[in-house]
Amino acid sequence: MILITGATGTVGRPLVGMLDHAGVGVRAVTRDMTSARFPAAVEVIQAEPSEPETLRDALVGVTAIFVNPRAVGAAGVELIALAREQGVKRMVTMSALNVEFDVERQPSRLRGEYNKEVEFAVVESGLEWVALRSGAYADNAIAMWAGQIRAGEVVRGAYPNSTWAPIHEHDIAAVGAHALLTDGLLGRRPVLTGPHSLTQPNMVTAIGAAIGRSLRFEEISPDAATQAMIRAGIPTPLAEGFLTMQAESYGQRGLVSNEVEEILRRPARTFAEWAVDHVDSFR
Ligand SMILES: NC(=O)c1ccc[n+]([C@@H]2O[C@H](COP(=O)([O-])OP(=O)(O)OC[C@H]3O[C@@H](n4cnc5c(N)ncnc54)[C@H](OP(=O)(O)O)[C@@H]3O)[C@@H](O)[C@H]2O)c1
Repeated sequence: MILITGATGTVGRPLVGMLDHAGVGVRAVTRDMTSARFPAAVEVIQAEPSEPETLRDALVGVTAIFVNPRAVGAAGVELIALAREQGVKRMVTMSALNVEFDVERQPSRLRGEYNKEVEFAVVESGLEWVALRSGAYADNAIAMWAGQIRAGEVVRGAYPNSTWAPIHEHDIAAVGAHALLTDGLLGRRPVLTGPHSLTQPNMVTAIGAAIGRSLRFEEISPDAATQAMIRAGIPTPLAEGFLTMQAESYGQRGLVSNEVEEILRRPARTFAEWAVDHVDSFR
C-alpha cells in the first residue's frame, strides 16, 4: 500500500492515476473529501498531513509514502518519525532544482514552503529515500498567463529572454511512480526538467498554437509584471521571487537535464505537448 500526500494536486493526481493503473494499492490523502474524485479502487483518506497524528491510522500497512512539502509544511520530521513507527519502508519526496539556491531564488520558500527541510529529513530518515528535484512546472503557465490569454491576444510580462525548461507534471509523476515501485532511484536526487530551454515568447507561441490563436508576448517593466501577477492571484512573495529568478536567467539558457529520459526510457514531454493537454485552461 502506498500513501500519497498532496494527492489532489498538480503532481499527486496523475501519480495516483498511474499507481492505480499499475494495480498498486493507493491511499490518497486530502483535507477535503468533496474535491477528491479518484478512481474507485483508490482509498481516499481525509487528514491534514501538516498534523501527522491525523495520519496515524492511515499509515497502518503502508510500505511507501509520497511526500509533498506543500501539504506537509513544517511537519516533515514528525511525519517521518510516525511513518517509521508504523513500519513504512520508503519515502519519496518532491523537492526542487533550486533547493540549495539562496532564499531569494526560491520563490516557494518565500511563501512558507519547506522543500529543503523536508528533503533533508527524508534523506536523514534512515528509510529508503528518493528526492525529486524538479525544475519549474509547465503548469505555472496557467497561473501566470491564462487570465491574459482568455482576455486577448497579448501576454505581457518582464524579461522576455529569461529562459527555463518547463516540465510536464505527468513526467514528474511518472518518475515518482518509478521511484515508489522500483529500486533504481534509491538514495538519489534526480534533477527533473523539461526537454527544452524556452523563452517566454516561445512558450506563449506554443500555447497559441495549441488553442489555434496567434498570441504574442509584449515586454513590460518588472514592477508592472509583478503587480499583474499579484492581480492574477499569485501571492506577493511568490510573484516577487519569480521576477527575481527571471531577472537572473535573462539571456541565459535554462538548465536542461536528461534525467526524465534516462529514467523513463522515453523522451520528456515538450511544452508544446503540455499546452495541447491543457487547452481548456486557456479557453
Ligand atoms: N511549481 C513549480 O514550478 C515547482 C517546481 C519545483 C518544486 N515545486 C514544489 O512542488 C510542491 C508542490 O507540488 P504540487 O504543485 O503538486 O502541489 P499542489 O498541487 O499545489 O498541492 C498539492 C495538494 O496539497 C494540498 N495543499 C495545497 N496547499 C496546501 C497548504 N497550504 N496546506 C496544506 N495542504 C495544501 C492540496 O490538497 P487537498 O486540498 O486535497 O488537501 C493540494 O491539492 C511544493 O513543495 C513546491 O515548492 C514546485
